[in-house]
Amino acid sequence: MKALTVIPLQKDSAELSDVAEPPESDGPLLVETLAVGICGTDIEILSGEYGWPPPGRERLVLGHESLGRVLEAPAGGAVTKGDLVVGIVRRPDPVPCSNCAVLEWDFCRNGQYTERGIKEHDGYLSERYRITPDFVVKVDPTLGVLGVLLEPTSVVAKAWEQVQRIGSRAHWAPTKAVITGAGPIGLLAALMGIQLGLEIHVIDQMQSGLKPDLVRALGAEYHTGAVVDACSDPDAIIECTGVSELVLDAMEHVGPNGVVCLTGVSSGGRTVSVDEGSLNRTMVLSNEAVVGSVNANRRHYEAGADALAKADRDWLAKLVSRKVPLDQWQQALERQPDDVKVVVEVNPS
Ligand code: BGC
Repeated sequence: MKALTVIPLQKDSAELSDVAEPPESDGPLLVETLAVGICGTDIEILSGEYGWPPPGRERLVLGHESLGRVLEAPAGGAVTKGDLVVGIVRRPDPVPCSNCAVLEWDFCRNGQYTERGIKEHDGYLSERYRITPDFVVKVDPTLGVLGVLLEPTSVVAKAWEQVQRIGSRAHWAPTKAVITGAGPIGLLAALMGIQLGLEIHVIDQMQSGLKPDLVRALGAEYHTGAVVDACSDPDAIIECTGVSELVLDAMEHVGPNGVVCLTGVSSGGRTVSVDEGSLNRTMVLSNEAVVGSVNANRRHYEAGADALAKADRDWLAKLVSRKVPLDQWQQALERQPDDVKVVVEVNPS
């Protein structure tokens, strides 16, 4: 079968390879991959900046934002033939650490976790894969290909959970939040923020086009400037860009008792100057919290699946702004002006 493979840390090494059918030892569910979303992490892997092959191998099958249809499933299980499913990205470390031992692999303590399509475990960008039922999550069948948005939604569900859990250290009655970045993560964070009943302000640099339209269609407000001009004293800020200036802006301008959740991964090597004394003073005197958030465990995938099931299908369909067939996968990497989420269609449904 065909799979998109890459030699991690080797730029321009990606190719459509012929690989063996998935071995039964991978799990009793056989899944036909329908679509795989491409995100910044994939671009980093393809650029030779990130990623690890499986032990003893040179090439890694790419793809961690998946949607597939079950072809074979054991009788009597919760997952049955025909179900639309999304594969979970991370696997617990083998030790296991205290968090992986309780299935909180997203909080792995020793770094020995693996991630499908990213770290030492083949991804989902192959025509078929096998898996155990505990690592797939069913999506509402009426979502169709839009179910491919579940993995990024799970990341956002975890971020909102962190905000709520930290906010709840004291009386917590949030009314407004800021999202920095109107890419897929930012837009899905805005969707969930609206579903939580919050006034949502999204900041991005695009002056016009699909991103502002998608934000407004949710009933959120769109801004292009600084946090302070978008919303005064937000209860929460979900930072989805990793851009140093925006990270600092969020930390400086979150409201009293507010929570800043950082989800964007910055590339290192940039220095910005900060009045640390003043930042520290504000954070202490206003009980502010800054938290980093990565990956997602099963609970977050399930929360994400609920959020997508409730969402407007036309809105989600606009978010999946471009679909590229597997044999033309290179087109998925050529950024176009109104790209939001680009997906590779492996077996068009
Ligand atoms: C994925 C996460 C993963 C992270 C770091 C992100 O793109 O969505 O699941 O943990 O990359 O590898």
